[in-house]
Order: sequence, then structure tokens, then C-alpha cells
Amino acid sequence: MYYNSLIETIGNTPLVKLNSVSKDVPGTILAKVEYFNPGNSMKDRMAIKMIEDAEKDGSLKPGGTIIEGTSGNTGMGLALGAIAKGYKCIFTLADKQSREKIDILRAMGAEVIVCPTNVEPDDPRSYYEVAKKLVKETPDSYYPNQYDNLSNLDAHYETTGPEIWEQTEGKITHYAAGVGTGGSMCGVAKYLKEQNSDVISVGIDTYGSVFTKYKHTGEYDDKEVYPYLTEGIGEDILPKNVDFNLIDNFIKVTDKDGAIMTRKLAREEGLFVGWSSGSAVYGALEYAKQHLNPDDIMVIILPDHGTRYLNKVYNDDWMRDRGFIEEHVFSTAKDIITHRNGDVGLVTVHIDEMIFDTIKLLHDKGISQIPVTDGEQFVGSIKESNLLKRLIEDPESKTKKIGEIMDAPLPFVAYDNTLDVLSSVINSENQALLVRDENNQVHIITQQDLLIEMTK
Ligand SMILES: Cc1ncc(COP(=O)(O)O)c(C=O)c1O
Repeated sequence: MYYNSLIETIGNTPLVKLNSVSKDVPGTILAKVEYFNPGNSMKDRMAIKMIEDAEKDGSLKPGGTIIEGTSGNTGMGLALGAIAKGYKCIFTLADKQSREKIDILRAMGAEVIVCPTNVEPDDPRSYYEVAKKLVKETPDSYYPNQYDNLSNLDAHYETTGPEIWEQTEGKITHYAAGVGTGGSMCGVAKYLKEQNSDVISVGIDTYGSVFTKYKHTGEYDDKEVYPYLTEGIGEDILPKNVDFNLIDNFIKVTDKDGAIMTRKLAREEGLFVGWSSGSAVYGALEYAKQHLNPDDIMVIILPDHGTRYLNKVYNDDWMRDRGFIEEHVFSTAKDIITHRNGDVGLVTVHIDEMIFDTIKLLHDKGISQIPVTDGEQFVGSIKESNLLKRLIEDPESKTKKIGEIMDAPLPFVAYDNTLDVLSSVINSENQALLVRDENNQVHIITQQDLLIEMTK
């Protein structure tokens, strides 16, 4: 028996039980190991589907050029499809992507253009915009646009979802996956929920991404966006493949927790996987610890292979330089809160309070900024400096309600984010941060707290 081309070997990846890393978690935790695909990632599935759907609808012509903005894995899948079917490929990548991914795509005969990471998505230099410009300039070109192309979601609905359903004999109760374009999370969740509407989906997100806040508030908040290192998951855009109705829960995972779990998967389970696999397992286990019953079966997608991260999470120097190996370099938000003497808890003000009373509160407590709440939500903030400006412009405003003049909410950081990360989020607009501890209690961290911690 033989295959007519490599792309026929895509899919039917194994489901493997996690033993060591999940030993303290109730239920059975299974990993769908997607590096068994010929391009070493789950993206082979959707790349071929996007190509074949475009052939059918005529947007990809014989001998044409496929142009895509990709974090590497989709590029590999598209390159495999292009080789099998006779197309050319040009890929644009953000410069935070690992060197290996770029070299691999070039080895597969693709042209690769590297673009800056830290620019807005609509900046002409971003990898999204460079790809779009090339499409306009290149004859017979096709732009799959994995973010908004629903063939991506369909590929997982047609293959990954049914495989998981059959491999668990329909007994799956929970499904967890990182969310980047959303294709693998939502395609599989759609299929599984159609088979059994009780299946619960858990999307893994990063700090610095807009998804979690959007799920909770329906608001795209660009203040949630800041640079992070994890590759493939989290976004600063809302792709069409992310159907928030299909994602029941979101868990945010830090770069560090994801990186450390990736190494544990290799050493303790023999699973030499990529960074987002570590993030997915870390986040899924955090969820499982709190919500799974002993009879539950959770499946986690492990998207790609570890070779692409040899110079990152699998490199001790790289890990040490970022404070990810426990030779403590920087204090964390947790340290700051623990070291703070006489922490009397967070002072907040309700959105309907009068400005007049809030000024008195700021004075009585000796504080210069205060988060504004509405029920459980942190909906805004009041800063002494802006308040003064407003009162000078309009002295009558002191009789108004807080909600009418408040500033944007303070950004949330992770409890184990280190000082370097905290200081990159603090700036002239955000002079304080919020953080949730293990008991779900919220604390404020100010610029002054960071300075005091640095002198310790
Ligand atoms: C390594 C890796 N992990 C996770 C994802 C996220 O998967 P999806 O795009 O299906 O949401 C991607 C997508 O680019 C990826 O490359």
C-alpha cells in the first residue's frame, strides 16, 4: 500500500494519554499529537483544505502563487500543498517567529519576507498588510487569509473533530486548544457540540491578546494588547474563524508557564512539542484542576513539533535570559504584593458614586488613582491628575457621577508576571496595574510599588 503524494498522509494523528504532568488532576487527560502530520503541525489540515476550496471556486488558478501571512506552520502546510499541486509560495512572517520556521519554509522552496512584530495590524509594515500588498502586485496570486477563511474551521470540523469523537468513542467531555486563527478550536468544538451539546470547550489565550476580554465584555479593547513571546496563539485582531459562541471558557497563560510546561512535556511525557502545546496543556490543566470530575475525559490539541523551538524554549540560555528558569532574576507581581506592608485590600469606587465623594475618598486614603467597578467588572479608573484637569475645565463637574468622567480601566497582568513585564505595561497612560491572586482577589500595583521592589 502506498500514498500517491505526501499530502494524502495528513490527519489521523494519535491520541495519547498524559500521565506525569496531569497526575494531580481529576479525569483522563488525552493529547491529540498533531506533529504526526507530514508538515509536523495541525496546520497541514487547513492549508490543504484552503487550497482545494480555492481551486474549486476558481480563486486559485493552475500555476498560480499562494501568498500568506503565517507564523510558519500554515506556510509549511501550504508549501506541501503547493509542491504536490504545482503552485509557487510567498510568505510574510513577523520577526518574533523562530529562525527555524523561516529556514524550514525556505528549504521547502518558498520565498519568505520577514516583517516587524511591534507595529499595529493595519500598519503597512505589518505581515498582514505586506501580504495584502503583494497579492495586489502579483498576477494569478491567491491570498488564503487563514484568519478569515472559513475553510480553516471547516478542515477541523471535517477531520480533527470526527477523529477525536471516534478515538474517544464519543466519551469526550472537555476539549481544550490554543486560539490563534480560531480554526482548530472552533472547527473541532462545532463538530463535538453537534454530537453532544454537553461537551465543554476551553480556549487557551495569552496575556497581551484581546480574546478573553472580548469574550467577557463583547468589547475589543486595544489596551489588552501588548507584546508577548508565545507563538501561534492569542491575537490583536478578531479573526472570523473565532466563533466566541463555540468557546465556553478562556484561560490566559503567561509566556513563562507555557514555556516551562513545554519542557516538562518533553522530559516527562516524551512529547517533544512546540511552545503553544505547553501553553495549551498548562491552561487546560489549570481549568481541569477546578472543574473536572474523575470520570471526565479532556482532549487537548498539541499543535506542532519541538524542532521549531530548539533555539527558544529548549535552549537554557534563552530561558535564563527571560527569567523563565527558576534562578530568580526579577521579582513578580506576587512578590510585590507579598512584600507590601499593611496591604489593606483594594479600594474601588462604584460607577454611580459622585465625583465629590470620590475626591474625599482619594484624600482620606492617601491614594492618587482608583479603579471604577460596576458589579464584578472593572469598567474604568479615576486618576487624580486627570480629575484635577477636568475640574479646572468644568468646576460644575464635581456634582456629576464617576461614570460620566472616568478614564479607561487599568490593565490586568498575571500574578507571576515579572518586574520587566510589569514595567513595560506601566506608562504615562497606565500608571497602575491590576492583578488577581490565587484566591481571585484583585490588587493594584503602582509605579511606586515597582520602584520600591527594585530597591529591595
Ligand atoms: C504553533 C501554533 N499553535 C497554535 C496555533 C493556533 O491554532 P489556530 O490558528 O487553529 O487557532 C497556531 C496557529 O498559527 C500555531 O501555529
